[in-house]
Amino acid sequence: MDSILVTGNGPLNGQIPIAGAKNACLTLMPATLLSEEPLTLTNAPRLSDIKTMTALLQSLGAEVSSLQDGQVIAMSSHDLTSQTADYEIVRKMRASNLVLGPLLARFGEAVVSLPGGCAIGARPMDLHVDGLEALGAEIELKDGYLHAKAPGGLKGAVHEMRFASVGATENIVMAATLAKGTTVLMNAAREPEIVDLVECLRKMGAQISGEGTSTIEIQGVDRLHGATHQVVTDRIELGTYMLAPAICGGEVELLGGRMSLVESFAAKLDAAGVSVAETTNGLKVARKNGRVTSVDVVTEPFPGFPTDLQAQMMALMCTAEGTAVLEERIFENRFMHAPELVRMGANIEVHGGTATVTGVERLKGAPVMATDLRASVSLILAGLAAEGETTVSRVYHLDRGYEHVVRKLEGVGAKIERIKGQ
Ligand code: EPZ
Repeated sequence: MDSILVTGNGPLNGQIPIAGAKNACLTLMPATLLSEEPLTLTNAPRLSDIKTMTALLQSLGAEVSSLQDGQVIAMSSHDLTSQTADYEIVRKMRASNLVLGPLLARFGEAVVSLPGGCAIGARPMDLHVDGLEALGAEIELKDGYLHAKAPGGLKGAVHEMRFASVGATENIVMAATLAKGTTVLMNAAREPEIVDLVECLRKMGAQISGEGTSTIEIQGVDRLHGATHQVVTDRIELGTYMLAPAICGGEVELLGGRMSLVESFAAKLDAAGVSVAETTNGLKVARKNGRVTSVDVVTEPFPGFPTDLQAQMMALMCTAEGTAVLEERIFENRFMHAPELVRMGANIEVHGGTATVTGVERLKGAPVMATDLRASVSLILAGLAAEGETTVSRVYHLDRGYEHVVRKLEGVGAKIERIKGQ
């Protein structure tokens, strides 16, 4: 297994290009199953999760080709050979469950393995099942697989979700595009990745309104046609790299970044003493003056503070002036980066879903272990400003969500290299 060696090396200056959004691409790719015509995605990120989704779609019989060094994904699901998403693939990546809605809508049946737990929580699928059953699907759990049927096709319905689940919103919206009649989905998630999915579905002929609000209305149509769609910028990669100059000092411009993608996050950075300015090419980030100050954080569904930036924000708070309280309200176990940061000299106390971080002058480099995708990058951020060397092991977590992380950080002056594993 590879590791990454980071050495604290002073302020960072320059530009970092931000890629297309992993979490948009992972719902846009299954959308190909809704039509027999080709769907092409541009600005796709080069990530291992995209390769996993590619393998899953190919296992169903879809044609998926990766062009232009992975930035273009050309797909066609004209002739599918299976409607079963196998446990071996789904257990590796929960987002595999996003084939459920499209398969059900187009073929009237789907067999999708339950993803099983993952490092950050149990992550059940009850909200997906409730929504699809509201559209008339019959879903049964057998041998760890969801067996879903809609022999007479899906029917539009009014459905309110208990919680604004991102994935459940995506599955239900995709399924509703081909249902008979109108669907009104209430307490829908409002993430930019859902807005991006709806924009793509609309290009395919879907009749949808309300995306980005809590109520999405879908008029079912008989069929969807092909389209070409550019994947929206990755707001989590954007937020992650905004923290690099905040932690190390200097000034970095994030190319492709837009304030609308990270408003609540940028507001927190501003309160902590980090300026974020929109430029014609992206966002420019720098500390307003010396040391940043501690700010409290509560993770919430969009437009609140993103749970996917909580670990990275904790890395900044480790050397801030004061004490910060970070409350993780989305997942039940998303502080695994805390003990690794403590190994680097951070002062963090975790009680249930709350972490209290008292800033120290400077962290000290140490060997640390990545435990999940966002935790892995928070350790790299911490190592950028720590005294001495930090080795982050198990960086396969990183490859799931961050393309060319060494090249992008080297490009702004970081001392960072990837060490090939045994
Ligand atoms: C998406 O996961 C993202 N993944 C996650 O990003 C992100 O953390 C999450 O949304 C929240 O923003 C993708 O888009 C591929 P949820 P998803 O359904 O859809 C509970 C990353 O780092 N829940 O909004 O799985 C669930 O257990 C990843 O890129 C149910 O109880 O998130 C969790 O506590 C990590 N029942 C909460 O809701 C359900 O049926 C949020 O889950 C579904 C979810």
